Amino acid sequence: MPPAPAAFKARGPLKGRVRVPGDKSISHRALMLSALAVGTSRIEGLLEGEDVLATAAAMRAMGAVIERGADGIWHVEGVGVGGLLQPATALDMGNSGTSTRLLMGLVASHAITAAFVGDASLSKRPMGRVTVPLALMGAEFTASPGGTLPLMARGLCPAVPIAYRLPVASAQVKSAILLAGLNTPGITRVIEPVPTRDHSERMLRGLGAELTVEQDRDGARLISIRGEAELRPQRIGVPGDPSSAAFPVVAALLVPGSDIVVENVGLNPTRDGLYRMLRAMGADLTYQDERIVGGEPVADIRVRHSRLQGIEVPPDIAPSMIDEYPILFVAAALAKGRTVTRGLGELRVKESDRLALMARGLARLGARVEETADGLVIEGSDGAPLAADGPVEIAAELDHRIAMSFAVAGLAAAHPVAVDDMAPVATSFPGFADLMRGLGAEVTP
Ligand code: S3P
Repeated sequence: MPPAPAAFKARGPLKGRVRVPGDKSISHRALMLSALAVGTSRIEGLLEGEDVLATAAAMRAMGAVIERGADGIWHVEGVGVGGLLQPATALDMGNSGTSTRLLMGLVASHAITAAFVGDASLSKRPMGRVTVPLALMGAEFTASPGGTLPLMARGLCPAVPIAYRLPVASAQVKSAILLAGLNTPGITRVIEPVPTRDHSERMLRGLGAELTVEQDRDGARLISIRGEAELRPQRIGVPGDPSSAAFPVVAALLVPGSDIVVENVGLNPTRDGLYRMLRAMGADLTYQDERIVGGEPVADIRVRHSRLQGIEVPPDIAPSMIDEYPILFVAAALAKGRTVTRGLGELRVKESDRLALMARGLARLGARVEETADGLVIEGSDGAPLAADGPVEIAAELDHRIAMSFAVAGLAAAHPVAVDDMAPVATSFPGFADLMRGLGAEVTP
């Protein structure tokens, strides 16, 4: 895909009511699990971003029938647990770490051999964190040097159930093991010392899997799934993605005079850390019409421009806002006083090294940033616009959230901020530039 550079600048206050696309994590799981049910599921609000479309293509390649109706509702005819077929060609995961790691879990307990390939960013990301536990279940992997893609996976059926304590707080690793456990005789257990997003657990239960969650003595979560389950088809409603809503929300907080509503945002407590932190920083955020959609808490969020105060972000909140640090760093750069973040080593192995890219980019915008081994320390400008010395160009290195974070920074800047390539934004937030334009941002391709 050719690079799509764009420059961002505020024209005045942001106003309006918007809806962001469906939750990426839930969309992946909705496709995978309904592809394993017996019968036809309907999915409403599915994120039609490239990452999720990669999951859909892979599930089709392994036998599921997946179609989008003219009304935007997706229909998935599942093959039943254990019914996945050998794909005829390599599974192209594009930019999507979630597709790769969760699908490796599915393949692990089927008699399937599958090659996984991805783009330049995905091909640098560590896969050992999933191949290690899945190998304990009997799957075999041949990865590229460094444990990366391209990678060959050979599943085992029947696989061997394991009890595995997660060495990193990762919902992807947890979910890969639970998905492998779905087609494994007996009970597969994951011990999660630090809770991560629980969409897999919620949806597995919703489709009828026998899954329990207990708390052990030292507070770890013990998740158990009984294998060889039969999943029932469902109607699944996918709420708006809190990780995507974060961009217009922070933009409205930063641009003086703004007052917007972002409708239908998922606020699962394992995902809402950014919103809790922003409120602690003094953000004027109110939740309206709180309700449940597809088994997940949802609200409309009203956001008004606010004077933010720097904060110490407790490291144990990290899993509930892991994808939101880039945009939090932008908010911190305009807050009053110092924001300290730590315990964020995982940010170095996301779609890019997000600590390094954010530190470098914010420094170019004139922010006072110090990069440590596992976090950033930011001395905020107390509302003084960034990029005071002239326009700035940022290289986003194929990372959608870096691109969107600097787009928002541009709205809080004295001069335009140009992002070298907005194309990767289509992985998670198709329509981002139009949505921001609709709120009043100036976006120049
Ligand atoms: C995700 C889990 C997180 C997150 C990613 C989506 C998921 O990754 O960063 O965007 O859907 O399970 P990790 O499991 O690597 O923390």
